[in-house]
Amino acid sequence: MIIGIDIGSTTTKAVAVESGKVVKTIKTKAFDAITSATGALGKMVSESNMDIKSVEKIIITGAGSVNIKKEIFGIPTTKIDEITAIGLGGMYLSGRDCVVISNIGTGTSIIEAKRDKITHLGGTGIGGGTIVGLSKELVNSTTFEHILDLAEQGDLTKVDLLIEDISDSEISFLDKKSTAANFGKMLDSAKREDFALGIINMVFQVIGMISVFAAKSRKTDTVLITGNGSKNMIGRKVLSGISGLYNIQFEYPADAEFATAIGAAISGR
Ligand SMILES: Nc1ncnc2c1ncn2[C@@H]1O[C@H](COP(=O)(O)OP(=O)(O)OP(=O)(O)O)[C@@H](O)[C@H]1O
Ligand SMILES: [Mg+2]
Repeated sequence: MIIGIDIGSTTTKAVAVESGKVVKTIKTKAFDAITSATGALGKMVSESNMDIKSVEKIIITGAGSVNIKKEIFGIPTTKIDEITAIGLGGMYLSGRDCVVISNIGTGTSIIEAKRDKITHLGGTGIGGGTIVGLSKELVNSTTFEHILDLAEQGDLTKVDLLIEDISDSEISFLDKKSTAANFGKMLDSAKREDFALGIINMVFQVIGMISVFAAKSRKTDTVLITGNGSKNMIGRKVLSGISGLYNIQFEYPADAEFATAIGAAISGR
């Protein structure tokens, strides 16, 4: 059995892979990289009744992996760079040999994965961390689930300047309800619910648009969404709007938040 551990900037993900198949996934959060990695392995072993002796190797990746300098619990431990891990994980989850991946974590990276080459196309610092960070001041909440609950009740027309606010008709292919400027209206009556929705909408519109340009530049009409951001249902709705406008399909594979950890584990085959 091979364990892949992805020590992300916010959360740590671990997967167990046996004969090329994912058999167990776990998430955890710890203050430092060593505690994250050892904790992830410990949680994996205790939750699945696996024998730690059956772990032949551990492959770590993610921002925090640079801080791991020794093997973990005497098990051979190696590292793989995060971009390669996302690329391998994306191909595994999509079942395709050529795929553009938008990995929405704390920040966002866009990768083109092909069997013979994995390319970091670019990305943006706009990501899940932006939602949590801006919400601290504007929404007065740092609990992710609470931010989502508030956003569910939000009204975007109170914060965003829409096409209908500036024009009596559609502009090009943008209908009247499209955003003309994120946070460009900000009515005095706007509430925290509206700010929460405005923040998530802005983050996913930016990610959606750079994903569209990345996909078009690589001559594909599909983008695989991975990272914890793929589980944000309000974000998915925003991406679906972009999908309709630009003819790009966004795909959400199961276990998308584990793509990086899966890529690390299967790199060891
Ligand atoms: N229960 C949760 N706790 C914290 N963040 C969550 C939770 N659920 C979803 N999120 C969102 O997921 C983001 C983190 O995503 P993810 O775990 O994929 O990133 P990461 O791998 O730690 O970061 P990166 O890949 O950018 O280094 C958070 O910023 C937040 O927006
Ligand atoms: Mg990550």
